[in-house]
Amino acid sequence: MKVTVVGAGAVGATCADNIVRREICHELVLLDIKEGLAEGKAQDMMQTATLLGFDTLISGSTNDYSKTAGSEVVVITSGIPRKPGMTREELIGTNAGIVKTVCTNILQYSPNAIIIVISNPMDTMTYLALQSTGLPKNRIIGMGGILDSSRFKYQLSQHLNCSASDLNAIVIGGHGDTTMIPLIRLATLNSIPVTQFLDAEAQQKVVSDTMIGGATLTKLIGTSAWYAPGAAGAALVEAIIRDEKKLFTCCVSLDGEYDQKDICLGVPVIIGKSGCEKIVPIDLNEEEKEMFKKSADAVRSMNEVLTTI
Ligand SMILES: NC(=O)c1ccc[n+]([C@@H]2O[C@H](COP(=O)([O-])OP(=O)(O)OC[C@H]3O[C@@H](n4cnc5c(N)ncnc54)[C@H](O)[C@@H]3O)[C@@H](O)[C@H]2O)c1
Repeated sequence: MKVTVVGAGAVGATCADNIVRREICHELVLLDIKEGLAEGKAQDMMQTATLLGFDTLISGSTNDYSKTAGSEVVVITSGIPRKPGMTREELIGTNAGIVKTVCTNILQYSPNAIIIVISNPMDTMTYLALQSTGLPKNRIIGMGGILDSSRFKYQLSQHLNCSASDLNAIVIGGHGDTTMIPLIRLATLNSIPVTQFLDAEAQQKVVSDTMIGGATLTKLIGTSAWYAPGAAGAALVEAIIRDEKKLFTCCVSLDGEYDQKDICLGVPVIIGKSGCEKIVPIDLNEEEKEMFKKSADAVRSMNEVLTTI
């Protein structure tokens, strides 16, 4: 099994690090456009092999896609991250060109790869990847909901003073500060609805802190976060390679599901060896349906920007 991670920056390198530590694949290629960066980080990671006890082979490449040939899964993290005060949407002009070129290069050497898109604005970049490659929709998956759901569980655990791993909670909709929808009505602490423990004000606080989770970290760190995004990308790769049939929220192409068409948006899906194997319907209430529609409208207008660049 071979995996390629494009972009050896903060998120790409962390994702690669998580993949190799867990020996998810036999071979991992890290590729970046910046001379020597991927080779250097690959060597650094290989030098942890005896310390951490893994056998995955890691190599780096400066923009030479022949080294990525035959990859089963490719993770795209290349592009610029946001700075404090920026929205993910402001990255579109630069990142659209990068993501489109990377997809073309990848498919030249790995025509059967499943592509995971992490670069922001992720919903629009996933849509662009789907449109520009013409790949079947199960093979283009955007990573955002896994991260946002993990941040949602973190916020809940802080309020409930409980273990985050005892929580079940998902975020659907777009991967933007105003487009994501943490589904607090359906969140549970070991099957008990969290709404039993949190009053309306606390519920609202959890939801809004989740929505600005990424922006809060960008403000603190000075650039966008990488530990949780990298780990979330690796979890997605693992579910594909090990055919885990995991239920994650991922950004996938909708064709009538959730009353949406011609858009990629975060919904619960089953992830296995074919990529997105199934879109799972949720019985949303009227308020949630309205929020989902608003989220889709915002993402759709962002997608329209693609026609102008
Ligand atoms: N979807 C998510 O949940 C999520 C979470 C965090 C970050 N992100 C996004 O991921 C992207 C990467 O973030 P980061 O913090 O790792 O940024 P970074 O600047 O640390 O790394 C990006 C890397 O991409 C490389 N790159 C640029 N153009 C390239 C090209 N054409 N080919 C190959 N490599 C190229 C750069 O040289 C750099 O090393 C950003 O767009 C960020 O907004 C998404």
